[in-house]
Amino acid sequence: MTTLLRSPVAHTTAGGRVFNFSAGPGVLPEEVLQEIQQDVWDLRSSGIGILEHTHRGVVFDQVIAEAIEDCRRLGGVPDDHEVLFLPGGATLHFAMVPMNFLPADGVADYVDTGMWAHKAMREAAKVGAVHCAFDGTKNHYTRIPADSEIQQSAKAAYLHYCSNNTIFGTRFDAPPATSAPLVVDMSSEAFARPHDIARHAMMYAGAQKNLGPAGIVLAIIRKDFLERACQNLPVMLSYVEHAKGGSRLNTPNTFGIYVMGRVFKWIERQGGLTAMERLNAAKARIVYDAIDVSGGFYRGHAQPECRSHMNIPFRLPTPELDERFVREAEASGMANLKGHRDAGGVRASIYNAFPVEGCRLLASFMGEFASRHG
Ligand SMILES: Cc1ncc(COP(=O)(O)O)c(C=O)c1O
Repeated sequence: MTTLLRSPVAHTTAGGRVFNFSAGPGVLPEEVLQEIQQDVWDLRSSGIGILEHTHRGVVFDQVIAEAIEDCRRLGGVPDDHEVLFLPGGATLHFAMVPMNFLPADGVADYVDTGMWAHKAMREAAKVGAVHCAFDGTKNHYTRIPADSEIQQSAKAAYLHYCSNNTIFGTRFDAPPATSAPLVVDMSSEAFARPHDIARHAMMYAGAQKNLGPAGIVLAIIRKDFLERACQNLPVMLSYVEHAKGGSRLNTPNTFGIYVMGRVFKWIERQGGLTAMERLNAAKARIVYDAIDVSGGFYRGHAQPECRSHMNIPFRLPTPELDERFVREAEASGMANLKGHRDAGGVRASIYNAFPVEGCRLLASFMGEFASRHG
């Protein structure tokens, strides 16, 4: 039998683990991971672990009710929005959004600010008519458009945007101005700062970055928007049916819902979304400063005014140095810094649960690496 042993590294998290810069599945709070270990064995003194509890029993009733309540309180979700836990990962919702909300005679506007936004638009085009309201490929996804640059259709069924560009590291400061119903893919920054949910007809987010494990999606949908949804879809593809079934249309990802609930509670303990935003901004600043003081040795992809606080992609002078940087960082206890396979370079993903110490370690490593190779 082979065992994967990690060589001892000089720097670790408070819990003795490596600093994980993965873009997703990403780092979860160590406190939550410890609670999970206990609850896998025995949840709420029921004598049964979370993985084994029926989704129709009283214990899981409490788990899901609490997760919804905590999500509402923490996220400032208005009463006229449904909170749903759905299957499929965000990619399924690239197709479900138009299947539910794009009528045969309608058009949906898409703001293309990155690879995920682009994929969402391509999926929608298989379902109905889409209009690319802003084409970010022309600026290599380095920036977010001003409202005046978004060419909206006269009567769009909805306008879709992706609030944080995981691959190229840009983000919308505020939702685009529109009179169309707003739909947002918030996968890589859900609950990393306060969100104006009331302005959105729908938000959805794959959980695996800020909220929990992969394979489950948090969706928040305004009830009057839901009323417009196509009524004639297979049940698993219908938001209306999922809402009617209370996110338990079939056997849901009970573990994912449970973990999200624990993460909501952890975020509240950190001071809520305003505190989270402050902390995330401070963490991002540490890494961006290391880029900015390097005299051009490190080049960030995003234009400075559009910089993401979650994902920081950058390049060194050559692809060989990119590779060497990632390798040496790994040996110092910093894992998963390789850029996205389609973007190359280096990418530091520093989600909610990523410790500030890891950002400091990265910044000091960047300074030291640049002085050796600059
Ligand atoms: C912004 C964004 N949207 C969608 C996705 C796809 O998510 P999933 O793999 O859950 O389908 C990702 C994955 O990284 C993402 O970052």
